[in-house]
Amino acid sequence: AEQNRELRERLMQLKKERNAIILAHYYQRDEIQEVADFRGDSFLLAQKAAQTDADVIVFCGVHFMGESAKILAPNKTVIIPDERAGCPMADMVNVDGLRKLKAQHPNATVVTYINSSAEIKAETDICCTSANAVNVVNSVEGQDVIWVPDKNLGHYVQQKTDKNMIIWEGYCNTHDMLTVKDVEEMKAKHPNAQFVVHPECRPEVVELGDFVGSTTAIIKYCKESDCKEFIVGTEDGTGYQLRLDSPDKTFLFASKYLVCPNMKVNNLKKLVKCLETMQPQIYVPPHVADQARLSLERMLLVK
Ligand code: 13P
Ligand code: SF4
Repeated sequence: AEQNRELRERLMQLKKERNAIILAHYYQRDEIQEVADFRGDSFLLAQKAAQTDADVIVFCGVHFMGESAKILAPNKTVIIPDERAGCPMADMVNVDGLRKLKAQHPNATVVTYINSSAEIKAETDICCTSANAVNVVNSVEGQDVIWVPDKNLGHYVQQKTDKNMIIWEGYCNTHDMLTVKDVEEMKAKHPNAQFVVHPECRPEVVELGDFVGSTTAIIKYCKESDCKEFIVGTEDGTGYQLRLDSPDKTFLFASKYLVCPNMKVNNLKKLVKCLETMQPQIYVPPHVADQARLSLERMLLVK
């Protein structure tokens, strides 16, 4: 505790010196969410990065999030606590594979989940997050949509749209691990609890949800609901904001495996160090960033 207090003091001092803001995803460790200027889901954090006046953005999340921030704010310095914090789902699609699919479906619009590399975004018509996926897909012209890389979110969106979706086979290792059996066992033990679930989970798990949504949507739903007990089907870092908003409610995670090891690579010590050394910095080659920016900016315009 004493060490964390010293680290937090050092952080506040460095933040002022560098004119930095700290953005933290809801899946980050509590010790990082505590000191963030903004906590949020992928969508809110991308918006904050695009709007900030700070000189330096410290992005606490995984690599693609820092990259998206750099693409949206090319004149800012973007640093991250540890460059090894990647997203396995983002790595499940490569440029060659996507180009082949585009050649097979020349009239399709490419809609890419923000959990993807800058190179993939540069091959994309419009990006989305889990918060706006249905609206983004519905917003495109034409009937055919190539959807990369999350098959589970793709399946969820397909239920809610008339578009014809050609869905890539990627998935989130963490959310995809949650099973129907896990949820049914929890429901049997806690019959009064509502099950709230992220659409990165498998379709048969999402189907059991009393509420389905992005992390921000889940947090908002739980805060506003009259229900006092929830079984949560997303990464366990969301517990920080859930408990902060509703200290009188009970949040039970649907499985002990709902922990993203990549998100947890970052910690407070590394956060302070990256502001001290201004390393590692995110770099995106300008020709890639210029293409990728179009797909992110189109997303930010969708209502
Ligand atoms: P959201 O932030 O859109 O809820 O996505 C969850 C996620 O897996 C981020 O890596
Ligand atoms: Fe990637 Fe899943 Fe971790 Fe999000 S929770 S960063 S999608 S592995």
